[in-house]
Amino acid sequence: MIKAFLQCFEGIHVYASGRRDETLAKASSLGAEAHKDNDYVVRNSDVVFLSVKPYHFPVLYSQVNRDSWEGKVVVSVMAGVKLETLEKALVGAEVFRAMPNINAFVGRSTTAVATNNAAVRNESRDLVDKLFRCLGTVYWVPEEYLDIWTGLVGSGPAFIAEIIDGLVLGAVASGMSREVAYNAVLDMIDGTVKLLKELKIHPIEVRDEVTTPAGTTINGLKVFESKGVKAGLMEIVETAYKRSVEIGNEVNKAIKTKLQMI
Ligand SMILES: NC(=O)c1ccc[n+]([C@@H]2O[C@H](COP(=O)([O-])OP(=O)(O)OC[C@H]3O[C@@H](n4cnc5c(N)ncnc54)[C@H](OP(=O)(O)O)[C@@H]3O)[C@@H](O)[C@H]2O)c1
Repeated sequence: MIKAFLQCFEGIHVYASGRRDETLAKASSLGAEAHKDNDYVVRNSDVVFLSVKPYHFPVLYSQVNRDSWEGKVVVSVMAGVKLETLEKALVGAEVFRAMPNINAFVGRSTTAVATNNAAVRNESRDLVDKLFRCLGTVYWVPEEYLDIWTGLVGSGPAFIAEIIDGLVLGAVASGMSREVAYNAVLDMIDGTVKLLKELKIHPIEVRDEVTTPAGTTINGLKVFESKGVKAGLMEIVETAYKRSVEIGNEVNKAIKTKLQMI
């Protein structure tokens, strides 16, 4: 994020914090002004990104003066920590939740952002939108979609990577070299995505177009059906979503209890 923001916005100043010297050195090498003092970082920033693990949030919270949050735009990328919990803790701040994914490393994150519209100004919303556009595409969604987003788009790159590996292994089992198969699969997937996007057609139309009587595709599709691949994919996303809900509930309960103790 540090690298992307500095490249994207002219004249922006980025502060970063961390507990370890190693983290600070890394942030500095990327162009941020790094500090161990979280209160200093919050006080001096207009927009604050909360990107610690959720269970570290109560400690971080205890290191920042309560009035330092006043007037700040705060964007939490912590999985599962609800707007309601954050709004209660960060008094006077405009709070957003975002769920980017690993593709941010190549400027292609598919990021969901949620907020309680009544509690934020349009300028802050536009600013958050602009910041995440530096990492890829941005989708404004109701907060209740974030767990599904986590199961589909957050975990998605891992699922797609598994599918790619499976296709490559199929080609290797049939006698093709791994390298040729791997490059071919990546290119073929890229092309299929482009086809779907540019022709604005349903995936089923592509399937039917490629399927000829007694041909290769229909025989492959028969295996697809008998192995329950599509049902498996549906179950994978639903299971990841349910786990995200579970983690969110655990995290919110723990954070609420800890915040009451601070
Ligand atoms: N990884 C992803 O693709 C992804 C995607 C979407 C959302 N998220 C969310 O992003 C958050 C971070 O995930 P991650 O994978 O980047 O975790 P991570 O690699 O463990 O990074 C967490 C960072 O927080 C710092 N930190 C912890 N406690 C701190 C404190 N009290 N003050 C200052 N800095 C502190 C750590 O630095 P020190 O060790 O030096 O303190 C570390 O740099 C999580 O809440 C996760 O749910 C991650």
